[in-house]
Amino acid sequence: MEKIEKNYLELIRETATWIRSEVGELPKIGVILGTGLGDLVNHIDIRCELDYHNIPNFPVSTVEGHSGKLIFGMLGGKYILAMQGRFHFYEGYDMKQVTFPVRVMKEMGLDTLFVSNAAGGMNKEFLVGDVMVITDHINLFPENPLRGRNFDELGPRFPAMTEPYSSALINMADDIARENGIRLMHGVYVGTQGPTFETPAEYEYFRIIGGDAVGMSTVPEVIVANHAGMRVFGVSVITDLGGKDIKEVPTHEEVQKAAVKAQPVMTSIITKMLERL
Ligand code: HPA
Repeated sequence: MEKIEKNYLELIRETATWIRSEVGELPKIGVILGTGLGDLVNHIDIRCELDYHNIPNFPVSTVEGHSGKLIFGMLGGKYILAMQGRFHFYEGYDMKQVTFPVRVMKEMGLDTLFVSNAAGGMNKEFLVGDVMVITDHINLFPENPLRGRNFDELGPRFPAMTEPYSSALINMADDIARENGIRLMHGVYVGTQGPTFETPAEYEYFRIIGGDAVGMSTVPEVIVANHAGMRVFGVSVITDLGGKDIKEVPTHEEVQKAAVKAQPVMTSIITKMLERL
């Protein structure tokens, strides 16, 4: 067991060293792009792109058939790293694989992480197409990415999760929304393993326990980013609504369509935040 985990630390360092040698200068800010939210990349003045399948130790793409890319370039006047495509637990990756890119980011010296996702809304105020700043989350994944021996080099054994999403960055997003007349919701993101969408009773249950939106990603990466001492900003695009009285059936296609439609708002908020950082 110890041998396997020691290797994990070595793998992180090896990958970070390889990327550094390919890219040269490294940014301080990373952005993980969720389902249907890749448009942000079209606004990046790209300096360098790395396909996941060329990056040593990066998880090999399984279900999706196409692998993603790390994109380095300028957005909002800042040099950033964007992850186009993430690794989901429901695809069969284990939690160490799902969160490997975040470990590598930290090892490369990144200190700020933006995460985005498509999510189903339980909050009765929400509309399809709304953008929700994630103020907190509820972890309902069956496994925590920090399970197993802790490496003090990576972070503490029992990390606090009292401010998983930076309140300074949330305030900045609110200021930008106010100044630009953008409808920006706040809410708690419930992270589940999927790949099933929720039953009506499950959406209702997640609402009762304090959730505003539910999705199948983000929480593992945010736990690891917090463990590593990174500052996090999260945003959900509400692609469907769920609850006892809602009859619409969510499909992957609908989720993608709604995400594509709403993403300019998300892109605009993130770009304006980068300008202010
Ligand atoms: N549930 C879970 N994940 C999702 C949903 C949902 O309703 N919409 C987009 N991702």
